Amino acid sequence: METKERVPVVWLQLQDCTGCSESFIRTTHPKAESVLLDMISLEYTEVLSAAAGHQAEEAMKNVLKNYKGEYILAVEGSLPEDAGYLTVGGVDAKETFKEMAEGAKAILAYGSCAAWGGIPAAGPNPTGAKPITSFVKDTPVILVPGCPPIAEVMTGVIGHIITFGQLPELDHLGRPKAFYRHRIHDKCNRRAYFDAGLFVESFDDEGSKQGYCLYKVGCKGPTTYNSCAEMRWNGGISYPIQSGNPCIGCSEAGFWDNGPFYTR
Ligand code: SF4
Ligand code: SF4
Ligand code: F3S
Repeated sequence: METKERVPVVWLQLQDCTGCSESFIRTTHPKAESVLLDMISLEYTEVLSAAAGHQAEEAMKNVLKNYKGEYILAVEGSLPEDAGYLTVGGVDAKETFKEMAEGAKAILAYGSCAAWGGIPAAGPNPTGAKPITSFVKDTPVILVPGCPPIAEVMTGVIGHIITFGQLPELDHLGRPKAFYRHRIHDKCNRRAYFDAGLFVESFDDEGSKQGYCLYKVGCKGPTTYNSCAEMRWNGGISYPIQSGNPCIGCSEAGFWDNGPFYTR
């Protein structure tokens, strides 16, 4: 790894909440500093750039000029159908995205907003928010859904591309199989209670204190593909279900309109 040149990365933020960036910088294996100083050269990012304004815009243009076909475009957030809802640096963000997408080696759609439309697309979807795939022609796109995605999944995908020089194997929806091949339900720490028919009926009942299955209080684990139950969050410590919260299916398309999230 040390002998390889760092891969240029441009990270665009579109209609987003910055939660995906917040998740990314909390990666523990590899550590964020190792990703940023040894693996990638983050040429443009609205959260972490030292440069700002025209300097930052210039850095993005230089990537397009000097690294066409070599850089990775990371995208957080959805795109509005209508021009005028999202302007960055005085330019319609959709036009910037299309230009940067065309010159990229690959696009990482980080988070459920970029992958599926996400919260900005929630009914009545006032901006006409769409997943970024709606605006890509030929460049390969890797979907890394989650609201936000797990930090080590985000860095793991980049690590794969850098280490093997190719994209990871994807499923029929464009997600890396390594991280999205199982349902939460398949690996859930409460699964034995589901199989035994022992369910939490309300959040303050005895079953809740015993750690029973959360299906009857709204858990979407049986229909959600993600690595939370295997990799867990915050460096492998826990995940929503382990801490008593039903999975709301945050990595699945349409989760934002498929509530209620909790049924008792
Ligand atoms: Fe925020 Fe979730 Fe969208 Fe990421 S996917 S930008 S965390 S709303
Ligand atoms: Fe399945 Fe959810 Fe119950 Fe876990 S808590 S076993 S994911 S229904
Ligand atoms: Fe999201 Fe469910 Fe994991 S809500 S964080 S996919 S447990």
